[in-house]
Amino acid sequence: MAYDFELGRSGRTLVRDIMRVKEGDNVVLTADTNSHEDVVKATASEVFSAGGKPMVIWTATPEGVGKAADAMLPQRTLAGALKDADIWIEFNEQWLLYSTVFDKTMEENEKIKYICLVEMNPDMMVRTIGRVDIPKLAKFLKLVAEKTENAKKLKVTSPAGTDIEFENHPERTLSVRTGEVEEGMAAMLPGQISWAPNFDTINGTIVFDGSVVPPIGLLDNPIEMTIEKGKIVDIQGGREAQQFKNWLESFNDEQMLRLAHMAYGFNPGAKLTGNIVEDERIWGGTEWGIGNVGSQHLDEREGGIAAASHCDGICTNSSVWLDGKQLLDEGMIVNFPELIELEKELL
Ligand SMILES: [Fe+2]
Repeated sequence: MAYDFELGRSGRTLVRDIMRVKEGDNVVLTADTNSHEDVVKATASEVFSAGGKPMVIWTATPEGVGKAADAMLPQRTLAGALKDADIWIEFNEQWLLYSTVFDKTMEENEKIKYICLVEMNPDMMVRTIGRVDIPKLAKFLKLVAEKTENAKKLKVTSPAGTDIEFENHPERTLSVRTGEVEEGMAAMLPGQISWAPNFDTINGTIVFDGSVVPPIGLLDNPIEMTIEKGKIVDIQGGREAQQFKNWLESFNDEQMLRLAHMAYGFNPGAKLTGNIVEDERIWGGTEWGIGNVGSQHLDEREGGIAAASHCDGICTNSSVWLDGKQLLDEGMIVNFPELIELEKELL
């Protein structure tokens, strides 16, 4: 019964506002045996109502994600179905994102619109999609991204003790998860802006007080990291800090001690659950990625920066200054009237 009545509208928002399914579109929904059946069915039903042709592909749950799932997937048939699909909505628990089938599909099917909604459950779908005014959120995110991109020097603090400064890299663009999915695009859940600053300029203290995934999940005690020129030089805190330090050092990989990206969370319905997809979208939170740097963040060069792994940590209720002008005060917009108005309407 969980959200049986409300799920339909969430599927409707996803199908009409985010994926913008048109009459006759071939829409493939992928799921595994750990996916939430009611989420998949509600979405397929809305695809049909919108005039699209839904096709649900349900596979066994692989024992790994991305390329680690390859060997356990019916790769040829899956790739065959996706090759000519107009839209692909992924609800798999063990995700296909970055699997060989995914890479092949995105390379060969230039018109496909893909969205990654792994581990989506009814509660999360209602909060993070169904109750969100997507066009309004897109407008808000684009404005925040524009102001952030135009700033040279940034400063971020948080009540838990984060106090970090850095400069933006003039050639790097921001990845804005607006909820507007275009052809050829691999989209994520709306409500996040991420980018890679000039790593050498990142100095100060970052305190994760929300979650760190992997290797921990929700945090009971904050983890305090001292950063010099984009590198973690000290980690302090309780039991979890020690666990985190051991995990980072276990890779024997210098890049696993380096920051990989910064991000803002702005999904009006997201809450801290330990599911990083949602945690990295809690309103007014900031996130730091550590380790592998995706090529999408490094516009000035070919490819990303490889590392043994990647993890993300959350600083809740962040305050942000753009060239000295405050944008966020403990998680809420200040100083920019148009953004304050949109925030009021969205929350
Ligand atoms: Fe990340």
